[in-house]
Amino acid sequence: MPEARITVNGKETPLSPATPHTTALDFLRERGLTGTKEGCAEGECGACSVMVARPGVHRPTDWVAVNACLVPAAALDGQEIITSEGLATDGEPGSMPSLHPVQEEMAIRGGSQCGYCTPGFVCSMAAEYYRPGRCEHSAEAAAGADPEHGPNGFDLHALSGNLCRCTGYRPIRDAAFAVGAPTEDDPLARRREQAPPPPVATEYTRDGSTFLRRSTLDETLQLLRERPDAVVVAGSTDWGVEVNIRSRRADCVVAVDRLPELRELRVESGHIEIGAALTLTEIERRLDGDVPLLAHLFPQFASRLIRNGATLGGNLGTGSPIGDSPPVLLALDASLVLADADGERVVPLADYFTGYRQSVRRPGELIRAVRIPLPLAPVTAFHKIAKRRFDDISSVAVAFALDIEDGIVRTARIGLGGVAATPIRSLATEAALEGKPWSAETVEAAARVLRGEGTPMSDHRASALYRSAMLGQSLLKLHAQTTEAVSS
Ligand code: FES
Ligand code: FES
Repeated sequence: MPEARITVNGKETPLSPATPHTTALDFLRERGLTGTKEGCAEGECGACSVMVARPGVHRPTDWVAVNACLVPAAALDGQEIITSEGLATDGEPGSMPSLHPVQEEMAIRGGSQCGYCTPGFVCSMAAEYYRPGRCEHSAEAAAGADPEHGPNGFDLHALSGNLCRCTGYRPIRDAAFAVGAPTEDDPLARRREQAPPPPVATEYTRDGSTFLRRSTLDETLQLLRERPDAVVVAGSTDWGVEVNIRSRRADCVVAVDRLPELRELRVESGHIEIGAALTLTEIERRLDGDVPLLAHLFPQFASRLIRNGATLGGNLGTGSPIGDSPPVLLALDASLVLADADGERVVPLADYFTGYRQSVRRPGELIRAVRIPLPLAPVTAFHKIAKRRFDDISSVAVAFALDIEDGIVRTARIGLGGVAATPIRSLATEAALEGKPWSAETVEAAARVLRGEGTPMSDHRASALYRSAMLGQSLLKLHAQTTEAVSS
């Protein structure tokens, strides 16, 4: 197998002597690229943001910003990344490099004070600068009437995973909203027109640990049969935290994020199938609102930096009771396609979780895809109750999918997170709604039932009483929001 190497700012850089647990952040810093900073080492501050060349949604390549503190460097074998040092372009011999347009705007608008967060901000900002379609923004944005988009189409949520402790966000936002369109001769803009580097098979062993990436699903399933103890990673947004904060190490880490069989999104008769290794950003952009409940979920799921790496397979595979996607997928009546070396089976998500971080998934088995049945219920909502509006962990999450016809609730599916050891369906409340008029009386009675669902506990995020109260409020809020739409 060829030597593992990463193309960093256009230069091929051997992975050695990094270990399979060395993060991309440490890999870069150990090679003198110290613009990439460590703030939190758990995906919350964005000081480590770098751009990776990934398969594009609308062009051959997208520049995608990710948290270098979470991604193992070995997972980038054969790939191409740009750090803050690689954004500026060379000037005349002997002169200073020319700042990149986002660096220039940050400098002249006072977007940098101590500067610790600045390289991360400029990488996230540059990825949004190069987003295809950014400049085809709405008239509302152009008129400055959309607080979340600049008149240049810049989506402020592209910076939702970057924190600054000293400058204040106003000058940073000013810089973001001032950048123009990339010029014709911009090398990173031109790079988008060619394919990204293809995934390469990796077998990298150091210090008694091995990082493995196979080329096909069959090879990967065979490997997992031989190594059922392996840690399986996709975007590494969970494993990276375990490695950095809890010092966990594994003898064998297997990457599945580039497997073509896990990266398909297709509409078939009766369902939509979403590959388990598509990132949340890819799903969001490819569905483009076609599944409204998922469209409600995505902006509330962590930050853009995390969504650029995180996958549905990972969020379901970890089995967390407060993952944000399970309540939504439960409300959508989703099933999981589980694959192992002997074949596939389809398991309803409602039957998947068996206990705290436990599921029916067997050793050696992978989540290949998520299936969402069609047609979709017309009335949907996702209510995430958390201490911050964005980039936070849920105290409670509630997803609704209702079919209301002639004022009667024909079907109700309600998914709950944060109120039990696993994500759960709200079966008693669904029964209290189905067949009844979508009226204040029905909803108030059902809200009382909903307050009693699950076994919420008190912790540092919320008390059990608060969690129960929020369940009921959530249904009342949905009724208030939808009454007009349903009766019209
Ligand atoms: Fe904070 Fe990576 S160091 S997100
Ligand atoms: Fe100091 Fe942002 S400029 S942390």
